[in-house]
Amino acid sequence: MKKRADLPPGVLEPREAVLRMAPYSPPTGGRADKLRLDFNENTVGASPAVVDFLKEHISAADLAVYPEYGAAKRELAAFFGVDEDELVLTNGTDEAVQVLINTYVDDDDEVIVLAPSYAMYRFYAEVADARVREIPYLHDKLDFPVDELFDAITENTRAVLIANPNNPTGTGTTRAVIEQILERAENAAVLIDEAYYEFCGVTALPLLRDYPNLFVSRTFSKVYGMAAMRLGCLFSQSGNAEFLHKAQSPYSVNSMAVLAARAAIRDTDYIRKYVTEVLAARELLYVGFEELGIDYYPSRANFVLFRAGDRAIPIRDELRRRGVLVRDRSYELAGCVRVTVGTREQTRQFLAELKAIW
Ligand SMILES: Cc1ncc(COP(=O)(O)O)c(C=O)c1O
Repeated sequence: MKKRADLPPGVLEPREAVLRMAPYSPPTGGRADKLRLDFNENTVGASPAVVDFLKEHISAADLAVYPEYGAAKRELAAFFGVDEDELVLTNGTDEAVQVLINTYVDDDDEVIVLAPSYAMYRFYAEVADARVREIPYLHDKLDFPVDELFDAITENTRAVLIANPNNPTGTGTTRAVIEQILERAENAAVLIDEAYYEFCGVTALPLLRDYPNLFVSRTFSKVYGMAAMRLGCLFSQSGNAEFLHKAQSPYSVNSMAVLAARAAIRDTDYIRKYVTEVLAARELLYVGFEELGIDYYPSRANFVLFRAGDRAIPIRDELRRRGVLVRDRSYELAGCVRVTVGTREQTRQFLAELKAIW
């Protein structure tokens, strides 16, 4: 086979689709000992009950055997109010997106994503060599582009991937609009990624039995404080779930993740209190921004996008030097920086550092 001239010697040529992709490399180190307001995680950690449950239930013998999912599927299905055969456990939402694409999208098929949105939608669509069509969030307030999305959906659309609320804009849409999307995109797999559901309370899950093209995902990476465990749930009608399972590796979710989830869903009090704290801290953050004269986009999730103008990257870097991590988004939204909302105490610390450099 002929070697491509622009590859260094000793490198095997990958698929064309992989060659074409822009690299996506979020930081994977150097975050310890900092105030981590850069990944929309739970900033105080998982419920202590999760850690206790893991310690109690993990033995050397347990580690030696391949995972079994029976108890976790039963308990999680009951918790989410679905049947067990409507639930697919995944290695984070990321694997949910990957499995959905592997199940429904072929080379050259059309996939619609909104922009900017969660990077993994485009990532897996591109790996699959799909044609990705991007619909931008509306300029001024970053509102959900309802009409533009309706116009873009055709009978050739194979998947529509939506985060509600959306990352990084923090804006969201209603269940009524989601129903209209499902009706228009009847030949497509429509994913509603509800990673931040607990902070906004809007869900498409009750529509599951009405729409065979609906897929809903939830994650344990955000409010549950279990990003390290890599656990997500993908919901759809049972006939679809069967095909998703068929396209999924049988043991992609590990035993500790499912054990942790079983304990996490029992400690609803912990989640409720954390959400209340974050919503109070978000109000505090808005007030702080207003005092500093900083424009921001009101959010329905545990992060807020604010405008730092042409200082977005210097501000991110200066905050990092001061021990506070935030995420620059200026590469996709001019001048914008995203900050995760944690506790009120952490928000005060962030605002004090921001004030010092603003
Ligand atoms: C919209 C959205 N979906 C999903 C995730 C997380 O995915 P996972 O469950 O793979 O950790 C994120 C994290 O940033 C996100 O913003």
